[in-house]
Amino acid sequence: MRARVDTAQELTRFHYLARAVALAAASQIPHAPVLEEKAELARVAWEQTLAADAFRERVFELRYPVRVLEEWASADTDTPPRQDELVSAYRELLAATDKLDDGPTERVVRQALADLEPGRMWPARREDAVPDIPPVDDRYAHHSFYWPDTVVPGYPYGEGIALRVRSAVSHLNEVWAVNTAGAITWALAPELGWEWIRDAGRWTYDEARHMLMGKRRLEAWGLPPAKTPLGGYIYEACAGQDPLYRLGMLGYFETKNIGRKKERARVFHELGDTLSETDMEFDWADETLHAEYGRRWLKALLAARGEDPEGWPQVLERCEQLVAGAVATATEADRVAIVACADELLALAGVSKDENIPAPY
Ligand SMILES: [Fe+2]
Ligand SMILES: [Fe+2]
Repeated sequence: MRARVDTAQELTRFHYLARAVALAAASQIPHAPVLEEKAELARVAWEQTLAADAFRERVFELRYPVRVLEEWASADTDTPPRQDELVSAYRELLAATDKLDDGPTERVVRQALADLEPGRMWPARREDAVPDIPPVDDRYAHHSFYWPDTVVPGYPYGEGIALRVRSAVSHLNEVWAVNTAGAITWALAPELGWEWIRDAGRWTYDEARHMLMGKRRLEAWGLPPAKTPLGGYIYEACAGQDPLYRLGMLGYFETKNIGRKKERARVFHELGDTLSETDMEFDWADETLHAEYGRRWLKALLAARGEDPEGWPQVLERCEQLVAGAVATATEADRVAIVACADELLALAGVSKDENIPAPY
């Protein structure tokens, strides 16, 4: 039977193992081309942060009143444990745990074990760089500027059916947010520590769900990926930049439409489009959380660097400039190509030309 102090030690080790898996999974997200792979890595990252957090809290309970986790020799390993290694370690602990004395440990380890379904995508190693330009999912039509309204003045955001298509394309293109969240989860981990990793794991998973929401709706309407634009100019705008700006982008550009989401959900309700409506409602709830993450962690990062935490508006200003700079690189060929792509997708969705007339540009 395992003693209290011995259990705390083992749970400390589990915390670091799960944390290593979470960071490895997050680091691989921008390197994985296929959307489903990214989403699976995001889910693993999130689940492992939940497990690691539960282990950590249990260690604090067992060691009360000490709320400091011991350092663990291999804490910074960039080779995470294999899934089967974790399964064996958890099973071993469960077999030795007295369910009456240590029910709370039994519960968290059992939950962590339940998340280790066989056949899951599992990160083999931690990447050591954030790619400036992530590989693209080549099933889709690649356009950095993924809808004309970003680069073609006067091109409508759309109403009715066109709005639902635009909104689903926006959701799909949150791939930039998934890549960004994955990249900064591990890139900022050394500066921000565990609580950041925990929040960022959830943030990454949420953005992956938003991306898949768009994918699911477009598929439900029979719109082919090959005709659907996919790009990531906001991610690309941060090439070579301090991850601070990626955090700014995610905290700001990804949440700035939050006010419109409720309104869009209503429009979709009136159209009788329950799927779009429900997606939008859940997205809205996630974004309220993300706006809070953005504010909190941007300030925390500035403070951790010895800068004024109230200097965050300058960070966002720089983010605006970076995006404006990226948008300014759009060529006439880019504009022609994305207008043709969007017009064709809208036509396939049943939007007639005169329902969505682009202004001349
Ligand atoms: Fe999102
Ligand atoms: Fe978000």
